[in-house]
Amino acid sequence: MSDEPSRPPDYPADRAHGAEPRPDVCAEAAVAPFCGRVRELVSQDRFEHICRVAETALAIAGGNGLTELERAQVALAAILHDAARDLPDEELLRLAPPAIELEATHPLTLHGRASRRLAEAWGVTDETVLQAVEGHVFGVQLDQPVGMCVYVADVCEPGRGVNGDLLELAMHDLRAAYKGAVEAKVEYLKATGKPIHPATLAIYRSLPRADRA
Ligand SMILES: [Fe+2]
Ligand SMILES: [Fe+2]
Repeated sequence: MSDEPSRPPDYPADRAHGAEPRPDVCAEAAVAPFCGRVRELVSQDRFEHICRVAETALAIAGGNGLTELERAQVALAAILHDAARDLPDEELLRLAPPAIELEATHPLTLHGRASRRLAEAWGVTDETVLQAVEGHVFGVQLDQPVGMCVYVADVCEPGRGVNGDLLELAMHDLRAAYKGAVEAKVEYLKATGKPIHPATLAIYRSLPRADRA
């Protein structure tokens, strides 16, 4: 769950970890050039988060039987997902012009779409990867396992120090973990009276009710 105007995880928790990033994912030839580009745009803490998301998302993908192709898509999408996260508001607004007032007043909500724009500018054309990048903020459909892996990993990567239960669940039941992550996000925003992006609400409402807690 990342990056509504006021959700907790993408903020101070990012800095509360002590783990060093492991460079394994970025050692892959298909991903390495993008690691270099992303590293130039984000803080060190952010890049470490990104590396942990990639490792976590790959572990989740492996635990849920994603194919080799899907795992490659997961790795690339995870590396790209926060490419625009540390850009100034003006740059987010330029890359991803706001479509609604909430986006205009909370430019951080645009960072998924802006990261997608960067990825496109860097030559990424795989729509599965691009959807996963963009969807890590507002959510993805349940038929997008690559996007679900990235979304869930973003919420529960070990550096956040929270959502360990979600990670455990995600390792064997990605759909359940993803739905839990979306629901927790919406419930948090409702409980705190924070604005909820309509795209987030749309994803939330599309989840099968029978599976809701
Ligand atoms: Fe993000
Ligand atoms: Fe993230």
